[in-house]
Amino acid sequence: MKKLGTFFLKATKGLAIKEVVSINGQIDSKAAISVFDRGFLYGDSVYEVTLTYNKIPFLLDEHLDRLYRSARSIHMEFSFSREELIKDINNVIEKLEGDRQYIRVIVTRGAGEINLDPSAATKNNLVIIGRNLPEYPISWYEKGVSMIITDILRNSKRSMDPGVKSGNYLNNVLAMAEAKEKKAFDAIMLNYKGNITEGTTSNIWIVEGSRFVTPPLDAGLLGGITRKTLLLIASKNNLSVSEENISPERLKAADECFLTSSTKEIVPIISVDDCPIGTGTPGPHTKSLHKIYKKFVQESLKK
Ligand code: PDD
Repeated sequence: MKKLGTFFLKATKGLAIKEVVSINGQIDSKAAISVFDRGFLYGDSVYEVTLTYNKIPFLLDEHLDRLYRSARSIHMEFSFSREELIKDINNVIEKLEGDRQYIRVIVTRGAGEINLDPSAATKNNLVIIGRNLPEYPISWYEKGVSMIITDILRNSKRSMDPGVKSGNYLNNVLAMAEAKEKKAFDAIMLNYKGNITEGTTSNIWIVEGSRFVTPPLDAGLLGGITRKTLLLIASKNNLSVSEENISPERLKAADECFLTSSTKEIVPIISVDDCPIGTGTPGPHTKSLHKIYKKFVQESLKK
């Protein structure tokens, strides 16, 4: 079978290594992925993204639990152990010099004959991409971002379940393309009932008065690790928080709105479809929840 070449350790001349790729535990130019890999052919893969703080992958256990759940949902078995997986992740982190790293773990069903039948796959391919992640622009957090609501629907749970973090992101890619065309930061996707699900790679929240609301998992969305963490720490901090269906009208009438993800943490949304949210500036509740989240991250790192 032909091999598709790739890169493994990438540094800008004379500077620290910026990117490390591990393929099936190998970080060298001999490692490769076949063009017959089902991840490449069909998006037949699952993945996770976590961020390191001081070189520690944040909530790695939670991410790996979700990776295993995603794999189970698409009847994919792993040909490696969790310990081997953690070892490979740590190897990548060690080779990178920065403290703040983007870690992407991809597991495909593997290569085989061109045939949709999953049993055509022989053995998983495990790819870990690590790269130094510079801080995101401060303006995202201080000034907020503008979003659109796209016409492209998030899948029904009876289709490729959005709760599974799989390699099938084409709806989201198209939604993001529409956002970029309209000069927006990103797009919010609805379900077939017309309710808000999530952003293309983030969860969505609104604030009504002092109440935090995010759509329920049933709306058809990824159970974000940041979302789950915020639900937990918000109630621990005696904040009112709830999972409820949110229509686009309700979202646009909210006092505040924000998105959440492992890499972006909490980003205030100040307008949707050119309609200002609340005062059209990042709201006080969003900012204070972000402070609580940052404190939680720092405390978790000490443990
Ligand atoms: N995206 N929804 C979708 C569709 C996502 O792809 C993600 C994560 C989230 C937020 O999940 P978490 O809080 O666990 O990061 C919600 C990652 C960051 C990515 O694909 O890059």
